[in-house]
Amino acid sequence: MDEIVISGGRKLSGEIAVSGSKNAVLPLMVAGLLTDEKLTLRGTPRLADTRTLANVLRELGAEVEEFGQGPGEGVNVQAADLASTRASYEWVSKMRASFWVLGPILARAHEAQVSLPGGCAIGTRPVDLYLNGLAAMGADINVEGGYVNATAQGGLKGARVDFPFVSVGATHVLMMAASLAKGETVITNAATEPEVVDVGHCLQAMGARIDGLGTRSLTIQGVERLSGADHTVTRDRIEAGAFALAVAATAGDVTLTGIDEAALGALAPAMRLAGVALRDAPDGLQVKGPSGRPQATPITTEPYPGFATDLQAPFMGLMCCADGVTRIRETIFENRFMHVQELARLGADISLEGDTAIVTGVEKLYGAPVMATDLRASVTLVIAGLMAEGETRISRVYHLDRGYERIEEKLSAVGAQIWRQSA
Ligand code: UD1
Repeated sequence: MDEIVISGGRKLSGEIAVSGSKNAVLPLMVAGLLTDEKLTLRGTPRLADTRTLANVLRELGAEVEEFGQGPGEGVNVQAADLASTRASYEWVSKMRASFWVLGPILARAHEAQVSLPGGCAIGTRPVDLYLNGLAAMGADINVEGGYVNATAQGGLKGARVDFPFVSVGATHVLMMAASLAKGETVITNAATEPEVVDVGHCLQAMGARIDGLGTRSLTIQGVERLSGADHTVTRDRIEAGAFALAVAATAGDVTLTGIDEAALGALAPAMRLAGVALRDAPDGLQVKGPSGRPQATPITTEPYPGFATDLQAPFMGLMCCADGVTRIRETIFENRFMHVQELARLGADISLEGDTAIVTGVEKLYGAPVMATDLRASVTLVIAGLMAEGETRISRVYHLDRGYERIEEKLSAVGAQIWRQSA
C-alpha cells in the first residue's frame, strides 16, 4: 500500500492550478443517467471517486469515457438504455455519492434497487431525507437486505418536499428526480452549495425547468425528457481551501489559479483574521501566509454560505500552531474529529468537548507516522506534515486519492518535499 512522506518546513511558492470540483463532478455524472443522449463534462478531476462512480454507471448500462488531458480533459456519460436498474453493494458501498443514482433511475425507469451507501465514517449518515422526499413524489419504497427497493408506477409526481434540515445529497437527488416528474415540485430548505447550483445549471442546459437555484426554495416543473449537454465543471473550492491553508501554514506565497477569493466563501474572512493575506490577481487568488504564528480564529461549520465542514479539518491543521486557543465547532457531522488523535501524534494540543475541538496552539509540530482516517482528515495531515519539523509518513493514502488530484505532484511543484512510496 502507498504512503505519502513529507519532509516539513519548506515554504511553498509559485502557482497551483485548482482542479474541477469533486463534489460537483460526482452528481453531474449521475445526472447523465437522466437522458439517453450524451452528457459531456469538461474540466473534470481524475480521482478514485470518479472511477468508482464510472463503474456504478457502467453497471447500469451507461457508457463512461474519459477524454483529453490537462485543462482540456473531461468525461462523456451516455446512458442510451438503462440496461439495469440495480446498483450493487460492491460499488455503492465504496462511496456515498453513488447512492444518488437512485433519483435518476427511479425517475427514468420508474423502478430502482440501490444498495445502502458507504463512504467516510464521519457519522451515522442516514438516508431518510432521500427516501421521504421520493415517497412524497409517489414512490413506493422498502428497505430489505441492505437495498432500497423503489417503484413509481406511472412515474414520479411533483410534490412539496420540506427538508427538516439542509442536505446536499438529498437536494441533488430530489432536484434530479423532480426534473423528470409529472408536474411541479417545490423543495424547501434546499442546499445552496455552489456544487448544487452547478448541477442545477447543467440540468437547465439539459432542458430542466428549475427556479430558485442558490436559494433555500427550489421550484421545478417536470419535463417529459431531458437532452444531452456540454458542461464545464466548477472549480474545487474545497481543494482550493486546503491549498490556501497549506500555503498559510508554511508562510508561503502561492497563486491558486482558476479561482478567486469569493470561491473560498467563509474560509476567506477566517483566514484574514488568522493573519493570512489574500488578493485577487489576474490569474487567480494570491495567498500569502503570516511571517509569525497565525492568530487563533474560532470557526463553526454550517451549511453554505457558512464555514464548510469539508474545510474544518484542514483549518484545524493551521490552528495547531496558532497563537492562542481556537474553538472549532462541528455542527454538520457528529464524528468528524478523527484527525484530532493523528494531529496529536505530531505534537498538537487538542481536546474535545462534545461538538467542539479546543486547539491550544503550540510553537512547533514534529514529524511522525500518522494514518489517514477519512477523505478530508487526510489532507489535514498533509498540511500538518508540511508545517512540522522532520519527516511525516501518512499511511492509508487511498483516502487522499479519493478526492485530491495528484496532490504530491501539485505540492512538490511549489517547493514542498513530498513524495509517494510503497510501504
Ligand atoms: C455532501 C458532500 C460532503 C460534505 C457534505 C456537507 C459530496 C459528494 N459530498 O455530502 O463532502 O461534507 O455534503 O456539506 O458532495 N443526513 C441525514 N439524512 C439524510 C441525509 C443527510 O440525517 O437523508 C445528515 C447527514 O448525516 C449529515 C447532514 O445531514 O449529518 C448533512 O449531510 P449531507 O449534506 O447530506 O452530506 P452529503 O450529501 O452526504
